[in-house]
Amino acid sequence: MKKISVPIILTATLFALLAASGCQPSEILTGDFAVSPLPREVRATEVDPNPFVLSSNVRICHEQGDEALAAAAELLADEIRQATGIRLRTQARETSSPSIVLGVDAGLGAGLRDFQQESCYRIFVSKDKVTLTGGSVQGVLHGIQTLVKALPLPEDGSSFRPAWPADEVFDYPEFPYRAFMLDCGRHFFPLETVRKVIDILALHNLNYFHWHLSEDQGWRLEIKKYPKLTEIASYRPGTEYQDGQLDDVPVSGFYTQEEAREVVRYAAERGITVIPEIDLPGHTQAMLAAYPELGCTGGPYEVATRYGVLDDVLCVGKESTMDFVKDVLTELLDIFPSEYIHLGGDECPKVRWEKCPDCQRKIRELGLKGDGHKTPEELLQSWFSSQLEVFLAEHGRRMICWNDVLCDWSDHVVGAPSKQTVIAAWMRPSSAAIAVREGYDAIMCPCGYVYFSNAENNELTGEESLRKVYDLAVIPEGLTPEERSRIIGAEACIWSERVADEEKLLWELLPRISTLAELQWSDPAAHNLQAYIPRLRHMARIYDSRGWNWKTDVLTSPQ
Ligand code: ACM
Ligand code: ZN
Repeated sequence: MKKISVPIILTATLFALLAASGCQPSEILTGDFAVSPLPREVRATEVDPNPFVLSSNVRICHEQGDEALAAAAELLADEIRQATGIRLRTQARETSSPSIVLGVDAGLGAGLRDFQQESCYRIFVSKDKVTLTGGSVQGVLHGIQTLVKALPLPEDGSSFRPAWPADEVFDYPEFPYRAFMLDCGRHFFPLETVRKVIDILALHNLNYFHWHLSEDQGWRLEIKKYPKLTEIASYRPGTEYQDGQLDDVPVSGFYTQEEAREVVRYAAERGITVIPEIDLPGHTQAMLAAYPELGCTGGPYEVATRYGVLDDVLCVGKESTMDFVKDVLTELLDIFPSEYIHLGGDECPKVRWEKCPDCQRKIRELGLKGDGHKTPEELLQSWFSSQLEVFLAEHGRRMICWNDVLCDWSDHVVGAPSKQTVIAAWMRPSSAAIAVREGYDAIMCPCGYVYFSNAENNELTGEESLRKVYDLAVIPEGLTPEERSRIIGAEACIWSERVADEEKLLWELLPRISTLAELQWSDPAAHNLQAYIPRLRHMARIYDSRGWNWKTDVLTSPQ
């Protein structure tokens, strides 16, 4: 599946060699701002039709004393060097030589919604100067990615002088929440892969990386107070696939707190917030293997070697379980500054709770009574998650949970989480509609559309594959304006039961993350699959130039 485009890599190398020798190719090749996700407005500047030609004389300038802009300037220089081989210097003042000038204008995008204003940017290209202004540094970071995507990438490997067209771009996002989730519980992905995923998200204007860090099959984050979470719970001896046989391929690994902080920093430099997920109270068998006292039966338990929905979950009837969870969260909050914290809540069977004296005592203490659709045990889960919501709120954070805490596959309301909970609607688009009608904020991430690891989704090829994502209505029909505003955005997920390496991971991620980005970012009025496909071909050339594996069968017809 590996697909590296040698010609393009050679082009960049050749250009670097020529530039270093002072001998530059004469042909100018001008790029195009028709990238993905599609910018809102692109028009010729009417000042001067000549493009801005990149050369090593160009300086990237930013305001003096603004550390975030200085870092953005370094990022742009680095991206341009990787894409073209040209090394640009950055400096904290303007210059008379050709330059790319980065700045922030808090008044840019006046009249837009707050999140749009913060993320908006304007690019103005003239022969000697490119100005990139953001509504905040976040906008500048998005604009940097647009500049990088708009660089020319010829297919024939010829050498050239890259240029941007004399255009003006103004752009801002459709939704405030533009996310992708990676499950590092079922399989562990090294830091290098995590950074690559973040690069890919940044390239497509996403702003959240949802990092799924715990599963029945593995716990992946160092918690200093509970060392057995990594000593015991981060290792399994193998995996039982369909045939029930252990494959004897051990899976292990975890991120130290230092490494997790580094991921947070790396992502922030690219405008991305890392949302950690600890899945509670289900999908916790690895935790139980390390600390059996957290379970209803006391164990013994093993880190799971088979997939599915497993019966052994946290015993939420015991006070000590809540203390343990809060200790873990205290360390987690210190690592991750994200306002949103994901605490799972999905697929939590109640069979142990039904028989557990501690859980049943808690149900009596709380006076939980079932009704037509909600059992006392379901209400116990609502109580548990509401306690955690309050804990997070006390620390200035907001809890996201999977929609199981509110509604089931039949669209029945089965829980009553606190109203501040953000519902991640993974079952069906209607799960999101239920959430917003019940007064919750919701994220659209239905498995039938945006689970890029789903086998049925992966079997689709050509336009069908793209359409599966492109046709998702992020805002379902029939909502009131108030309900519509509660859909904060969309998210794609890769669950790693059958994704053991980076090559497969990138194949699932690319190019459908670009398709999702069109929904998350671009103007819905410009929604048109046929117009998107040529822009996707350009994106695919970028993937090739970076050596990223991608699902080539979505672009089957010749150009
Ligand atoms: C999920 O797919 N269990 C959230
Ligand atoms: Zn219990």
